[in-house]
Amino acid sequence: MKKSKGNPSPAASSKGRASSRVAYSEPRIAVAIMAAGKGTRLKSQLPKVLHEVGGKPLLEHVIRAAVRIVPAKDVYAIIGHEAERVRAALEHTGIHFVLQAEQRGTGHALMVARDALAAYDHVIVLSGDAPLITPETIGHLRNFHLEEQAAMTLLSADLEDPTGYGRVLRKGARSAEVQAVVEEKAASATQKKIREMNSGFYVFAVKELYANIGKLSTANAHGEYYLTDMAEVLRKARERVVAWKTANASEVLGGNTREELAGIDEQMRLAKCRQLMADGVTVFYPATCVIDGDVEIAPDTVIEPYVQLLGTTRIGTACRVRSYSVIRNSEIGDGVNILPGCMLDEALVSAGAIVGPYSRLRPGTEIGEGAHVGNFVETKKVKLGKGSKANHLTYLGDAEIGAGVNIGAGTITCNYDGVHKHKTIIDDGVFVGSDSTLVAPVRVGKGAYVGAASCITADVPADALAIGRARQIVKEGWAREKRAKRTR
Ligand code: UD1
Ligand code: CA
Repeated sequence: MKKSKGNPSPAASSKGRASSRVAYSEPRIAVAIMAAGKGTRLKSQLPKVLHEVGGKPLLEHVIRAAVRIVPAKDVYAIIGHEAERVRAALEHTGIHFVLQAEQRGTGHALMVARDALAAYDHVIVLSGDAPLITPETIGHLRNFHLEEQAAMTLLSADLEDPTGYGRVLRKGARSAEVQAVVEEKAASATQKKIREMNSGFYVFAVKELYANIGKLSTANAHGEYYLTDMAEVLRKARERVVAWKTANASEVLGGNTREELAGIDEQMRLAKCRQLMADGVTVFYPATCVIDGDVEIAPDTVIEPYVQLLGTTRIGTACRVRSYSVIRNSEIGDGVNILPGCMLDEALVSAGAIVGPYSRLRPGTEIGEGAHVGNFVETKKVKLGKGSKANHLTYLGDAEIGAGVNIGAGTITCNYDGVHKHKTIIDDGVFVGSDSTLVAPVRVGKGAYVGAASCITADVPADALAIGRARQIVKEGWAREKRAKRTR
């Protein structure tokens, strides 16, 4: 690359928000993410980059890092295998997609992106299957590339066991310059001893990349165009090729196999737990907890072993989530107690409430302040008012329940007539006796009582008592006579 004057100091653009105040001399930088491969080694119907670690597709992690470096409009994911599925899953990120209809290698992926990248000076190339990469490291790599005025800059790392990865052949032990990258399959015994691996992340000067990319060949073990071969191609064209070695070797790990995915997932989960603990949350036996990256928990909350907190779940301060609970996309207020074995999905639990053990709160559940939901209680699209209790063996669906209501053990809202769902309304202060069925649509007025074992099919006015069950019959002496007959 020609040494051009007027490059900004790398520090000036390291915040990645350059677009709002672009100086005329500032280089135009794009990010291309290679994500077209099938992921043969996973033996899966699902394309590799949609496999999840830390609760999100591999590719989404990489996109998140990328948009911290350049705006989404300058990010291009190169997709191919199951492209429409990948696009649909990640369209919400606002980035561009480039189609690599036939996947003929990482070099070929960049060939098909030529038109999309023509308007840029440099392209940062990321791998869609290496989700641990951080914006900080990408920023360092970019800065090194700009400082070195290189045509190609590789990100490398020393690995304890670099088996399977490409190896970086430097011009000399101390030299920043790179001779070539040799893939594992083509490496000699001596080259295999090199611990410096090629991460699959690069920065290229766009002009030099495309002036030379046609020189790539498919004369290798896979019959593919290897992007790694650009190191040698550019060096032979007398362009500058350098490598920047990161000390954070764990960031460059790729998820090519199920085992590697499990390792990456574990690393992300532990990092999340460490962050939570640093922020004042107690997590017992963190290795047993599954907490997604976007989950938020306020200080002084305690998470017991074997808890899963998923999606966008938010938990307030001074709560306790006891073992074996799985909570997804839910919001939990302060001082809430989630007892063991609960499942919460898109539920809202207000401050001071007690849930469980063994409660199932399904989407649309809103538990009021200080309310209690007990064992084997299932709720769906329900508002349970402040201080109300449904403590045992109950199904509440499509119901609006006021404050201070007592729902007796075994109460069922019959919300479904086989075709439609109907609503049950229970006003403030109602007492529903045990084993009652409330056949919706139905309303029980403020302060009313429902006698135990009632089947309520008509509205109950406020302050009334409704009993809907057969009257009890008592036959004096009946049992004594029966026994007498038996002994005769
Ligand atoms: C690649 C590198 C290797 C490096 C390793 C780091 C090559 C030839 N080798 O190997 O030196 O150590 O990454 O993880 O590049 N892809 C496409 N289109 C294709 C082929 C692949 O978009 O035609 C995508 C894949 O979806 C994947 C990425 O490129 O996200 C890397 O491809 P992969 O096959 O995983 O390369 P590795 O064998 O891991
Ligand atoms: Ca890979």
